Parts: sequence; structure tokens; C-alpha cells
Amino acid sequence: MLNDIESIKNLAQDEIARAGSLKDINDIKAKYLGRKGLLTGKFHSLGSVPREDRPRIGRILNEARNFIESLLRKQEDIFRASELDRSLRSRQIDVTVPGCFIPAGHLHPVTRVLDEISAIFVSLGFTIEEGPEVELDYYNFEALNFPRDHPARDMQDTFFISDDVVLRTHTSSVQVRVMEKNSPPLRVIAPGKVYRCDADVSHIPMFHQLEGFMVDRHIRFSDLKGVLELLIHRVFGRDTSLRFRPSFFPFTEPSAEIDISCVMCNGAGCHVCGGTGWIEILGAGMINPRVYEKAGYDPERYTGFAFGLGIERVAMLKYGIDDIRLFPENDKRFLEQF
Ligand code: DAH
Repeated sequence: MLNDIESIKNLAQDEIARAGSLKDINDIKAKYLGRKGLLTGKFHSLGSVPREDRPRIGRILNEARNFIESLLRKQEDIFRASELDRSLRSRQIDVTVPGCFIPAGHLHPVTRVLDEISAIFVSLGFTIEEGPEVELDYYNFEALNFPRDHPARDMQDTFFISDDVVLRTHTSSVQVRVMEKNSPPLRVIAPGKVYRCDADVSHIPMFHQLEGFMVDRHIRFSDLKGVLELLIHRVFGRDTSLRFRPSFFPFTEPSAEIDISCVMCNGAGCHVCGGTGWIEILGAGMINPRVYEKAGYDPERYTGFAFGLGIERVAMLKYGIDDIRLFPENDKRFLEQF
């Protein structure tokens, strides 16, 4: 019996030394220590050993089992470690392989100009408000003192959704919406998309405007002038001159159109300014008391100014673009230049 145990130990030791994989280790484990294993068989035959020898033989059997188990475990650890090593190696990345180029985009020039102008007004304490693009005739026209059938409505080539609903033709539509919900003092800009049924080199059916207005006690035309001068100087530079021309808008009285000295020729006259040296850039005026009445403000108590600015127009002048239709085209050859 003792000789058998000794030779089983030696056999197992030899086989473990020759094992080439985890699978070999498992097979060896089954062969010697499994339910029908060689060493397990010896445990079963302990019963036929003389009673007085059993404790000693039992101990020797246990030692043999521990010996084989520990050899197996050691070899198993070695195989596991080398397997991990192999799998890590196979997943190694080559940091010298050139990466794939991910092209970075940038903001659209119209968005850039909108952001730049909005930031100027925010720095002056104006808040930003938005209104719907599909707008009630009431806010787009009626509340701004364009009565129905008034010829001033023809100034704006309106897309009608129904008799009472339009695509807003200007961001002035936000004025009364904001006034209804807030009391003066108000300092507000309303940037956004507007729609007109018109298309040529200087008109597209959807474009962007920025409306601004300020309402408080004792607001004067000179406040309007100061704010617009600051705006134009920040956007086009301090050398740019402004010219206020009398004009008409139903929602302002008095009204003005504001020209700036041509940014292309510095006022000398060129094809951009049509040889005049001036470029029209803004509509503005003192808010008509009729608008306050619609909003529920006391026209005796409050005064204020409003202005509206075309964003594409500013972008065209700033970047020297001569066709407004380039903006919505989304041609990368155009957009990449900014
Ligand atoms: N809403 C006018 C337009 O789109 C522009 C405008 C003119 C806005 C005078 C104003 C203003 O606030 O006072 O043609």
C-alpha cells in the first residue's frame, strides 16, 4: 500500500511537470483526485488495511493528497498568469498608429453675429426674450398699431397661415408679448427668425432679426442714440459714423432709419453703398403710445425706444459677403471661410 501511494505521488508529480495547459492540469486532477481517481481509490481501500495501521496510512494518504493538490495549484497559477499575460499582449494598442482625423465644425456666421450682438446688450443689462415664429396677427401687426387693411402691412410680404395667424415678419412681435407679462422698467432684446415672401440677392424668405426695446420713466431719443452708437462702434469699430433719417413705422413715433458710413469704402462711395457712402442698417424710434395702450401701460407715465436690426445684413457687411442667399445654403466651401 505504501509503495502504491509513493508511486502514485511520483507519477502525478511527473505528469504535472509535463503538463502544457490548464486543461492538462484539470485532467490530471481528475485522474488522481477525482471521484474515480487513483489516489481516491486508495482512500476507498483503507477499509481493508489492518485496523492498527489505518491512522498512519490515513495520514500518509492525506499528505499525498495535499502534496499533489499543492503541485497542481502551483502549476495552475503559472498557467493562469501566462494566459492573462498573453491576452493583455494581444490587446496591446500601438500608440504610434496615426489617428483618424475628426473634422471640427464651428458656429454659423449668423449665429456668431447674433451671439456677439446679444453679448453687447447683455453687458448693458438687457435680458433676452423669445417669441413664437408662428405668431398671431395680433402681436405681429394689430398690437403694433397696424390696423387691418392699413397700407403699412404691405411693407412686409407676409406668409399667412390663416386669417389670424402668420409667420412673424419681424421680431417686433415680441414687444407686446413681453410688455403684457412685465411692468417697466424693461430692457429687452428679442433675437430670432423672421419670414417674408421675398427672394433675391438681398432678400431670403427666412432671415434673422434682433429687436431691442427699453421702457421706463423719462427715456428719451438721446438714450436710443447712445445705445445704437455704442452697438455700432462695438460691432464695426469706433470710426463708423451713424446717420439718423426720419422714417415711418406704425409702432414708433417719431421713427428713424439709421445708416452707417460704408464699412467697405469708409464713406467714399463704392458698389456696396451704391456710391452714397452710407448703408442702411436699422429701423428705430420712440415707442408709439398706442402700443403702450395695447400692453396696458400708462402712456403718460412711460416712454421708451425700440429698434430692429437685420442680422444677415450685419454679417454681410462684417465679412464682406455680397449675396444673402449664401447663408442658408449650407455650402461648406462658403461656411469654412469663417
Ligand atoms: N420691425 C421693423 C422691420 O422689420 C424694424 C423696426 C423698425 C423695428 C423700427 C423697430 C423699430 O423696433 O422701432 O422692418
